[in-house]
Amino acid sequence: MSDDTLIHIKSRILELFSELDEGEMDYIDKWISSHSYKKDLQNKVTLDSAEKCLIKIAKTIKKLVPFEAEMPSENIVPPTVGNQADCTKESTCHIDEFLYDHKDLEDLTKQGKIKRHYCLDCNSRNIQELTLISHSLSRQTLLYIFKFLLPKDLENKQILDLGSRLGAVLYGAYYFSNVGNIVGVEINKECCDLQETIIGQYAMDTDRIKVIHTDILDRSDVVQNSDIIVVNCLDHFVDVDKHKQIWYFLKKHIKKGSYLITVRSMADTLIALDMFEELSNWLNICKPNQLENEIFFDIEDCNEIYLYTVN
Ligand SMILES: C[S@@+](CC[C@H](N)C(=O)[O-])C[C@H]1O[C@@H](n2cnc3c(N)ncnc32)[C@H](O)[C@@H]1O
Repeated sequence: MSDDTLIHIKSRILELFSELDEGEMDYIDKWISSHSYKKDLQNKVTLDSAEKCLIKIAKTIKKLVPFEAEMPSENIVPPTVGNQADCTKESTCHIDEFLYDHKDLEDLTKQGKIKRHYCLDCNSRNIQELTLISHSLSRQTLLYIFKFLLPKDLENKQILDLGSRLGAVLYGAYYFSNVGNIVGVEINKECCDLQETIIGQYAMDTDRIKVIHTDILDRSDVVQNSDIIVVNCLDHFVDVDKHKQIWYFLKKHIKKGSYLITVRSMADTLIALDMFEELSNWLNICKPNQLENEIFFDIEDCNEIYLYTVN
């Protein structure tokens, strides 16, 4: 590294330090002089390298699915209840967050490949921002789940992703945690085939990760054997009756003490489905298990992810 580069690095660090007050500077000074930053740095390097695996997988998937990441065989319908009930085909654009991160989104917008606004009355200045939705969890969210929310050691545990779609949660579990058994249940055959392709192409250990093509309602055994269950928002994929059926089914079969991870609070989901009263005592909100990793996340970006334990 040249002297010039080193001077540039020092100048960037000084720029950061100059924004701190005395107390904050004191804290950073201790962090560096006690050498505890070295452990954080090592963790960051490990996280970055695991993240690279997911970036590669996302690149592969992009070549295998349509740009919207919705399969020809799917019938994805805007929900009629809940906080996404205002999503219509006109006002909403689906961009899969596992495949396209914030930076990709900006690039695609600049290139005109996705539009961020729609016209309210065809006189072009009266425009409205499109609602962006994603049917998959982003890499950042997966890191947050496995490196912040859940306990660190999951070796003897089974995780179930209910509706595993492109497999984002499964690959996150595989590369970001030591969870022993990773199971995806997905009702759409094309999505299952895609996940199988990725698992094969990346030579993942099939004793550890597997996908089951079925309706979750037909596999109470998988739910009963799982210690962690992830449920991303099902609103666009099931009607209200089926959605209610799934939550009654989970309430019946998830074992006590298991973790449930949801995208959006359960209170919001259950109120929208008009079943809050019946299920209100079922779950306890739970605090993150790996608080020491807070340094690696912008927690604000992940405030829609909830961790519960089952009573
Ligand atoms: C929002 S996507 C979740 C994707 C994935 N879990 C993630 O977070 O990246 C919901 C998925 O659930 C699937 N699904 C809907 N109803 C299902 C059911 N009864 N059994 C299994 N999968 C179901 C849909 O086909 C869809 O792929």
